[in-house]
Amino acid sequence: MKELQRIGVFTSGGDAPGMNAAVRAVVRSSIYYKKEVFGIMQGYEGMIDGDIHKLSPRSVSNIIQHGGTMLKTARSERFRTEEGRKKARKQLKEHGIEALVAIGGDGTFTGLHKLFEEYQIPSVCIPGTIDNDLGGTDYTIGYDTAINTAVEAMDKIRDTAISHDRLFFIEVMGRHSGFIAVHSGVAGGAAVIVVPEEKMTIKDIYDKLMESGKRNKKSSLVVIAEGSPLGGAHQIADEISKMTTYFDIKVTTLGHLQRGGSPTCFDRVLASKMGIAAVEGLLEGKNDVMVGILNNKIVYNTFEKTMQFRQKFDAEASRINKILSI
Ligand code: F6P
Repeated sequence: MKELQRIGVFTSGGDAPGMNAAVRAVVRSSIYYKKEVFGIMQGYEGMIDGDIHKLSPRSVSNIIQHGGTMLKTARSERFRTEEGRKKARKQLKEHGIEALVAIGGDGTFTGLHKLFEEYQIPSVCIPGTIDNDLGGTDYTIGYDTAINTAVEAMDKIRDTAISHDRLFFIEVMGRHSGFIAVHSGVAGGAAVIVVPEEKMTIKDIYDKLMESGKRNKKSSLVVIAEGSPLGGAHQIADEISKMTTYFDIKVTTLGHLQRGGSPTCFDRVLASKMGIAAVEGLLEGKNDVMVGILNNKIVYNTFEKTMQFRQKFDAEASRINKILSI
């Protein structure tokens, strides 16, 4: 079999802090192993349009400390179609790219998996998403930075909540996953944490807040994952205010603030390890897998394994918050 010479790297889906550190690791380790490496701009969009550029070790200088992604990113509708993937395949062939490293979340790996099924292009995915919602890895790149950003915001909100004796509803990101909510909620001292993985009613939230009120709690934070089945922070706050005028209620949605900023040391190291593991995996002949880190050891996961993210919810963190928030 002909030895692999040219690797393409791209970021796709929502950006996450640490993606740049992962790109740097993929580029430098590819060149270390004497391979050529090409950056594909804007994820699958750039693959379809042939927006592909050769990278050198210096192309990725001074990016490890920056959030966002130097390769840009997109959520590509065109790549969901057979025609889009055919065009992407053609561009890869024209640029002589024989293998791919993708950095992104479940949508990114789904696209890569499809490309492998249809055209057998060797590929490894690196989990890059603030949601931490992929199976087969304890952490995804960007999650640590995002929860620290959320906690910093909660600490600031708490200052004003205490000063005014107010109840704040704070919405955090995590489309289908309560990971950001439950960990930032524990660290931020939330009175209640609302997540998609756990059944909770508006009445449960109301009861908990009234009970704390009776214990002389003057101000509280309620943390809500955006994917909560009860609705977003505004909706839940409205429901509670219809039930009582006891609280002075305010709402904050942290939104995309959580996706930006300089990656933490943890995310930079994780991204560096995973970037190298992706390239080494490809060179060892691994295919259609996602790099993960389990108990501090690099692993390679099948597509099916990574999609079992719902099993990953940290129910223990949620349990301890119920004890600590009385
Ligand atoms: O997947 C990461 C994420 O930030 C989710 O938490 C959120 O639901 C989604 O992306 C938002 O995506 P967009 O920036 O495309 O609106």
